[in-house]
This record gives sequence, C-alpha cells and structure tokens, in this order.
Amino acid sequence: MRLDVFFTPAELQARTSLAEQTVVVIDVLRATSTMVEALANGARSIFAVPTTDEAVRIAQNIGRDQTLLTGERNCVRIEGFDLGNSPLEFTRERVAGRQLIMTTTNGTAALASVASAKRVLVASLLNVDAVARELAETDESITLVCAGRERRFALEDAICAGTLALRLYRRQGRRKNWSDAALAAAQLARRYVHSIERTLRRAAAGRALIELGFARDVEFCGRLDVYDVVPWFRDRQVAL
Ligand code: MLT
Repeated sequence: MRLDVFFTPAELQARTSLAEQTVVVIDVLRATSTMVEALANGARSIFAVPTTDEAVRIAQNIGRDQTLLTGERNCVRIEGFDLGNSPLEFTRERVAGRQLIMTTTNGTAALASVASAKRVLVASLLNVDAVARELAETDESITLVCAGRERRFALEDAICAGTLALRLYRRQGRRKNWSDAALAAAQLARRYVHSIERTLRRAAAGRALIELGFARDVEFCGRLDVYDVVPWFRDRQVAL
C-alpha cells in the first residue's frame, strides 16, 4: 500500500488520475471537523459545494424549508444562511434528520477537487482513529489531502495527516511505500500531538479564529478520537 500526503490541494494539479485512489480530505479548522460533528449529531447528509451560488441553487431545488444552508466566507456565516461553520452550532437539536448544504473557503473546495477519486473519506482529529481503521482494510493507494489555508500549508491539517499515518502504521506495521511528505507529516504529528490544543491556538488558522471570537471552536476541533464515524464523500454529498 502506497501512502502519500498533499499538504495543499494545489499539489493535485500535477497528478494524472485519482481513479484508483482512496483519498482522505482533512480540514481541521474547521470544515471537516464541523462535518463530522454534524453527522455524529444525526444530520442526514451534507451537500459540500465550493460556491455560494451552487449551495443556494441546491437549496432551492430541494426546497428551502427542507434544508439548512451552512458555511462561511472569511470564517463568518454567509449572509442569509442558517448556520456558519462553527461545529458548536451543529447541535443535535439543529441538525438531526436535516439535509445540510455547506460551502466553505477551503474545505468544500478541497472535496470538490478530489471528486474523481475512487473513494473519498473525510477526516479530522475528532474521528482520526476511525478513519485509520477503515484505511487499514484497504490495499489501495492512499492520498491524504490537506485543505490548507488559502492555498498554503496549514500546520493543523499536516498534524492530522501525520496522526492518521501513524495510526495506520500502528495497525499495519508497514511504511515501506510512504512518500517523503507522509514521513514528514508523521514527524510533525509526533512533535505536536501531545500539545495539540496549544499548537492549534498558535497556528495561523487558530489565531484568526480566536481573533474573530471562535476560541471555543479551536479547542473543540483539537480533541482526538471523539467520534467513531467515517464520513464518505460521493455525488457531492458527505454522509455516513
Ligand atoms: C474552510 O473550509 O475554509 C475553513 O473551515 C474555514 C473556517 O474555519 O471557517
């Protein structure tokens, strides 16, 4: 099994095909953490789309009263949307049984960019071990794609990718076919995983969220293995 890590989705452009790959998309602060929280709290599924226009169009097609429009631009709720991108908003009371439609700056765009992969899973620190267990079952090539931040490296996503790689190694006992990026991500995880909350507060995305009043989100997203769920992304939707 080959394991690779892309530290930003921009690296995808160099690849020819994802058709035989299992891809895992990671956006710890906050899109994939929020998706995991929403699905763990009973959301039916989440249309994850890159643009606001597309989100609104899907909501109109399904019926606005049947859906919750969610997402952010510059980390704050999009005007006219029901929810922003704070996982704390996605309580069981708000989302259980509901059809969500989400658009975010980096996370949903990263998902759209890997839609051609054979299989796409969604990971965050909240469900990292569950995803590792699922990956350990496959012999396919695996690529962990970090959403990053505005096309740049994001430390928290790299740490999550490295944690996933280490958990996979713990299960499989092999790392012969790891790329240099996978080895580097694993080292970052070893270095930072024990001070994950402090590290998230120091990372650029964490600092920006704290400045905007979302300190509790940063703390929330920095917790390991809270949920035993493995969301899939297929036909523009994230679901369990
Ligand atoms: C994103 O997808 O761009 C992020 O999750 C932004 C945010 O934290 O709201």
